[in-house]
Amino acid sequence: MCGIVAYIGPRDAYPILISGLRRLEYRGYDSAGVCLLSEDLNIYKCKGKVSDLEEYVVGKNLSGNVGMAHTRWATHGEPNYINAHPHFSQNKTLAIIHNGIIENYAVLRSELINRGYKFASETDTEVLVHLIEDIISNENVAVEEAVRIALNQVIGAYAIVIIAREFPDKIIAARKGSPMVIGVGEGEFFVASDATPIVEYTNNVVYLNDEEIAIIERDHDLRIKTIRNQSQTPYIQKLELSLSEIEKGGFDHFMLKEIYEQPRSIYDSMRGRIHVAEGIVSLGGIKDYEQKIINAKRIIITACGTSWHAGLVGEYLIEDLARIPVEVEYSSEFRYRNPVLYEDDVVLAISQSGETADTLAAIDLAKSKGATVLGICNVVGSSIARATHAGVYTHAGPEIGVASTKAFTAQVAVLTLIGLLLAQKKGTLPKSEFVKLLFELDAIPAKVERILKLNDKIKAIAHIYKDVKNSLYLGRGYNFPVALEGALKLKEISYIHAEGYPAAEMKHGPIALIDELMPVVFIATRRGIYDKVITNIEEVKARKGKIIAIITEGDESVKRLADHYIEIPDSEEMLIPLLATVPLQMLSYHIAVMRNCNVDQPRNLAKSVTVE
Ligand code: G6P
Repeated sequence: MCGIVAYIGPRDAYPILISGLRRLEYRGYDSAGVCLLSEDLNIYKCKGKVSDLEEYVVGKNLSGNVGMAHTRWATHGEPNYINAHPHFSQNKTLAIIHNGIIENYAVLRSELINRGYKFASETDTEVLVHLIEDIISNENVAVEEAVRIALNQVIGAYAIVIIAREFPDKIIAARKGSPMVIGVGEGEFFVASDATPIVEYTNNVVYLNDEEIAIIERDHDLRIKTIRNQSQTPYIQKLELSLSEIEKGGFDHFMLKEIYEQPRSIYDSMRGRIHVAEGIVSLGGIKDYEQKIINAKRIIITACGTSWHAGLVGEYLIEDLARIPVEVEYSSEFRYRNPVLYEDDVVLAISQSGETADTLAAIDLAKSKGATVLGICNVVGSSIARATHAGVYTHAGPEIGVASTKAFTAQVAVLTLIGLLLAQKKGTLPKSEFVKLLFELDAIPAKVERILKLNDKIKAIAHIYKDVKNSLYLGRGYNFPVALEGALKLKEISYIHAEGYPAAEMKHGPIALIDELMPVVFIATRRGIYDKVITNIEEVKARKGKIIAIITEGDESVKRLADHYIEIPDSEEMLIPLLATVPLQMLSYHIAVMRNCNVDQPRNLAKSVTVE
């Protein structure tokens, strides 16, 4: 939620900030603003997207080689000009940008109002900048010390950058709970919510830790201290990210590019981990925890959104393959519902961004009860990757489209590997079956490639259904989470109401919705309880619902029943989610494009939900 970027160095700051904001826009896009320091602090901000800000600043003084910018996803205060960041302190000598939530802002605000401060906005952020100004004037301390004192009074999450008019060679950044990375160039520094605005300038980065403050001075080394005033040595890491990975590469949208990247991202997530010839699976990241997982009485998977759907597939996989009981929890519920947790429980947190606030809180809770917590994250060095005891990265590459696609299939691929690894160690699968699964898994990227060739057919189906109001997605067994994910993709980017259901549950409610206007997407591949799904299709057909079926290549029975069908290659039942999800992503994508929706930045959503 919210993207922040800042620069100090010899170059003009504005072009760096604006292109950084464009890269961070997936984090929020309801208002945007920039602050540049030349003679004075100049702040320009407006409601809307980064492109609106670019239009707004035409003709304005954009000089300055110190600056910062922000793209917002509103939490406190509606998205408008006033609430957009940056915010000035009362005497306009300080400016702040902030990502996160100051939970005790109401108390701090009324104290400051009593001391004569006037608030321009409804944001929690403005409290912080007034507080820092107040400390500077009362305690006569340097800005970094005032920031430190202020942060000791704050409850909540923050990634902030402060620029002070009186200190034109310095920017102050700090974080707790919201991500922040500092790029260290030759005589210049960059600060951002993730590395994407930085990668074209330097690949030397420092990930700020919670409760750390960075004092970033032109022509000086980077200094870091904690809010308890302990100095820290900056740990410079090398970024493994290329510019081409975060650009559209000729596709109309990031989402489409990411859908098409899936053969590669699934392959990359398995590379070096699946050894077909030797018939083994190895996962270096959790090697030291293998015994712990095997001995676990149960595994609890916790995640949000699409990652939660991957977790559901994981439940089926791990129970099937390794016979270890698995529960899947929404992180937002788990963290608040006083769950029973034992020291021999293993908690598996799944997150693309590695920054989701609820998942982080669920991890903290699990750790506080003594459970072992492992992560499946896509973003290397992210908060969740660091908060967990160990983990396995999905190597999907940066996912920019807000609707998750390649991260989901990469998560499912990694969960399959975990299931197989546990089966291998526990001996729960006959060797022949194990090897067959490895072969089939190895063949998945090529099969996804074949599915991508169905684009024109899927587009034609999208055209027929682009104006519907409602839709139902049904599947059973491994295809039930696929139905949930298919429905989520459609609703989040096309704003068509879509529900995913276990196919047999349809008769306990959703069947009442079915009439000749209702498209029902069946994931009806020829494995598992296929015959029962056929019965469910018949039930919909009898009520005149329109049937779009995802079927196994050559399945004549469902072809006869369905109004439209999409044939996908066959595989083992437990690997079908890796295939069946892809045409559903494509269907949603085309429908959303035909409805003129902003596919990469759907309304009200954000890619990385760092607030609860
Ligand atoms: C947001 C995104 C979803 C994502 C979810 C969980 O809602 O829009 O695409 O699935 O957060 O995010 P995570 O990064 O933890 O997987």
